[in-house]
Amino acid sequence: MKPSLTTETVRLDEQTKELVLIDQTKLPGEYTLLRLSKAEDIWEAIVHLRVRGAPAIGVAAAIGLYVVTDRFQTQDRGEFDQQFRAAKEYFASSRPTAVNLFWALDRMAQVVQRNPQATTDRLKTLLRDEAIAIQREDVDVCRRLGEYGLSLLQDGDGILTHCNAGQLATVKYGTALAPIHLGVQRGMHFHVYTDETRPLLQGIRLSAFEMQAAGVKTTVLCDNMASSVMQRGWVQAVLVGCDRVAANGDTANKIGTSGVAILANYYHIPFYVVAPTSTIDLTCPSGTAIPIEQRPPEEVTHMWYEASMAPAGVDVYNPAFDVTDHSLITAIVTEYGIAYPPYDKSLAALCSSSTE
Ligand code: MRU
Repeated sequence: MKPSLTTETVRLDEQTKELVLIDQTKLPGEYTLLRLSKAEDIWEAIVHLRVRGAPAIGVAAAIGLYVVTDRFQTQDRGEFDQQFRAAKEYFASSRPTAVNLFWALDRMAQVVQRNPQATTDRLKTLLRDEAIAIQREDVDVCRRLGEYGLSLLQDGDGILTHCNAGQLATVKYGTALAPIHLGVQRGMHFHVYTDETRPLLQGIRLSAFEMQAAGVKTTVLCDNMASSVMQRGWVQAVLVGCDRVAANGDTANKIGTSGVAILANYYHIPFYVVAPTSTIDLTCPSGTAIPIEQRPPEEVTHMWYEASMAPAGVDVYNPAFDVTDHSLITAIVTEYGIAYPPYDKSLAALCSSSTE
């Protein structure tokens, strides 16, 4: 079975009360669904990128927190709250950069805080409802991102993307790839260039797979080939997702994104970031305040292989994300509309409209 627009990347099985997700470390060779209910297994799935991409991480954490909480034995509210806080903190320790993780966990915590008199059984029901709401909202938000993003594209455009900000990074549609999915459903044609995205190859493994499954013309590039395709005039727009947008518009996304933005700027190609408002963190004034995850050196030296490709003991630099300066971003597409520079004003206005 291949992923399609009818397959949700992350969901709750309401019967078995399990978190169900596509194991993305196995793609594109194997399509495996994981059913998880233990905190350690859910944490492991996030840390090892079985589920990855900012919105999908948030949804998985929310559902994960519910399925773990639902198995608490205690009926004592004080004890329940203490166990809930410990589980929330445990999930929050999984990955530091995608703010959607903390946003989703905080939404779940607010349910507990808002209902101090509720019984533990009642709280479990409320937490289930909130996790389902977060999952369903993600589908709606991504569809709206797709509509706004599509308004920036022309039929026949060549689109370059980095990492995977598609359906596999959300519940459905994706962020940066949502305009492509919607456009193709409406009979439009795009040629998507997917950077392979070293070291963990989300572009070649996931974006290329997802685009191909959706019937989109797709060409895979090694990361160092982006300049070449831009120079040839094959790319009319760059679309990327992100893990956190600071108040001034600086944007953290998969390592290598800032280099793509610099190239796009040089070749006068619009560079669009597509992100739900849950990815905007107005408490971060600029990109320097965004925590950047450092990952194990073996991801660079061994990738998926047993033998090292590097001399033993060599020093390795392996940040999972980099920050693209706001000056390089043409527009930031959200579910409430498109933000243009100056971002300190436009993002604040969009976020306040989202809370009205
Ligand atoms: O390390 P990953 O695979 O979780 O990194 C994902 C990305 O960088 C995505 O571009 C980002 O989370 C946006 S997903 C809609």
